[in-house]
Amino acid sequence: MLRIEKYIEEVFMTAIHKLYPDKELKPIEISIATNEKFGDFQTNFAMMNSKIIGGNPRKIAEEIVNEIGTCNHLIEKLEIAGPGFINIFLKDEYLGEYVSKMTTEKFEYTELNTKGDVIIDYSSPNIAKRMHIGHLRSTIIGDAVKRLYNFLGYHTVADNHIGDWGTQFGKLIIGYRKWLDKEAYEKNPIEELERVYVEFSKESENDPSLDDLAREELKKLQDGDKENYALWQEFIKVSLDEYNKLYNRMGITFDTYYGESFYHNMMPAVLDELVEKGLAVEDQGAKVVFFDEKDNLHPCIVQKKDGAFLYSTSDIATVKFRKENYDINRLIYLTDERQQDHFKQFFKITEMLGWDIEKIHIWFGIMRFADGVFSTRKGNVIRLEQLLDEGKKRALEVIEEKNPSLSDEEKNNIAEVVGVGAIKYADLSQNRQSPIIFEWDKVLSFEGNTAPYLQYSYARIQSIKKKAEEMGKVITADTKIVIKDKIERNLVTFLTLFPTMVLKAGETYKPNLLTDYLFDLAKKFNTFYNACPILNQEDEVLLSRLLIADRTAEILRQGLDLLGIKTVDRM
Ligand code: ARG
Repeated sequence: MLRIEKYIEEVFMTAIHKLYPDKELKPIEISIATNEKFGDFQTNFAMMNSKIIGGNPRKIAEEIVNEIGTCNHLIEKLEIAGPGFINIFLKDEYLGEYVSKMTTEKFEYTELNTKGDVIIDYSSPNIAKRMHIGHLRSTIIGDAVKRLYNFLGYHTVADNHIGDWGTQFGKLIIGYRKWLDKEAYEKNPIEELERVYVEFSKESENDPSLDDLAREELKKLQDGDKENYALWQEFIKVSLDEYNKLYNRMGITFDTYYGESFYHNMMPAVLDELVEKGLAVEDQGAKVVFFDEKDNLHPCIVQKKDGAFLYSTSDIATVKFRKENYDINRLIYLTDERQQDHFKQFFKITEMLGWDIEKIHIWFGIMRFADGVFSTRKGNVIRLEQLLDEGKKRALEVIEEKNPSLSDEEKNNIAEVVGVGAIKYADLSQNRQSPIIFEWDKVLSFEGNTAPYLQYSYARIQSIKKKAEEMGKVITADTKIVIKDKIERNLVTFLTLFPTMVLKAGETYKPNLLTDYLFDLAKKFNTFYNACPILNQEDEVLLSRLLIADRTAEILRQGLDLLGIKTVDRM
């Protein structure tokens, strides 16, 4: 099925084609009415096209309104407002019918060009370090973007562009051989690797010759030395094992894990192309790309004096690989705000190379704790695992208090869903470009714009359905929505907007547009439920309201799922 606006558009376009058959008109836009006085939807079509059609926009609006009339099953009435707006009031039955179909049929976004692959590059931690709070946003927002794009009908490829190639490996190899505590390594390999890495930094301060040794080991690794290569692979394996544990907990999956090393052999050819096209030039022994003054970008080094390639070179090679191996619709990258210049530089270079590919860098602000308590406890960083554990622990405390009679297993399960969900939602519900101040009490609140509030609203509807079922009242394919009340109509109309909100969130890469919608939806449902009781009604009303409740729950579930957040039936 289509977005409701598309069906309204069809009605309008039939009338418009009849009235103005041979005019080349600007496309019609149906927008959500800003105030219920102005109907459910509005269009400014008459104003947009008055020059082309010729005539006063109000008069054009009148012509359209008369042509459409009321002989269709969608429109209850049309009104002309201001300089030529058309206010659109839909029929109650139509709204009811639309909502009852909403979760049984798949949405199609015929207006989008979904051809090809959307490659989404996110999470992308650097190997041999545990993930910390800094990796959270890329991982979570990237996953939400993937889910939104899948819903919109795109084919996505989720790529974890892990940092598995760099100077840290020489140091790690030395550290591993010199200072590894075997027992500790067996227990928690990545923690021990972090420790020997720190040890290296300390020791090399007093003994700079260690840095030379590390460089030698790195060179050996890059030249294919067997032992070093095996160690390097082991480092990657233990790191990915650790990351996958966290990804599993967060419901995050990837299609590919082509890390930086994957592109290593492709970099010389990229450099050649840059040199051949006169884009990279020699500068103090290095190869550098200089930009036009108007681009306002710093020169970009693509090969160092010692022959080593850089982060930008690997990203250019990555674009080339993707261009040659996929039918690219667009490339989407997610990192924090500090990498903006890097992306501007290498995007520009690929343009200068004449590679015509749409690329978007979605950057976000950094997450901080207001009180700093959590961050100081264990040194300088907050590991992702600690964050998830703390979320779960705190959720468990709330559940113990609210619902002590649940079994331990169920409490534990709910706590994980609520804790992880709350953390994700706290991130996704913010404007992604602002810095986030993370406060547990806000994040885990059962009120306000939080995941637990939405999850709770969902669970509440499940319990209403269960009670209805115990009374023998179950909705079937024949159940109809009959709108009796203004508040009821308000909720039903709002439900029809879900696919439009998903589109908006996807097009702007702003999951917070969807969280705002879901929050409003839950609030509207609670208002509805207070004003329009369900279970004590006559069958027709009872089942109709039960159907509205069911669709609300299903939209909440689908919406949260698009954000990578789970629901539970009881909490
Ligand atoms: N590994 C990088 C980091 O931790 C992020 C990589 C982002 N993706 C990319 N294609 N550059 O900062």
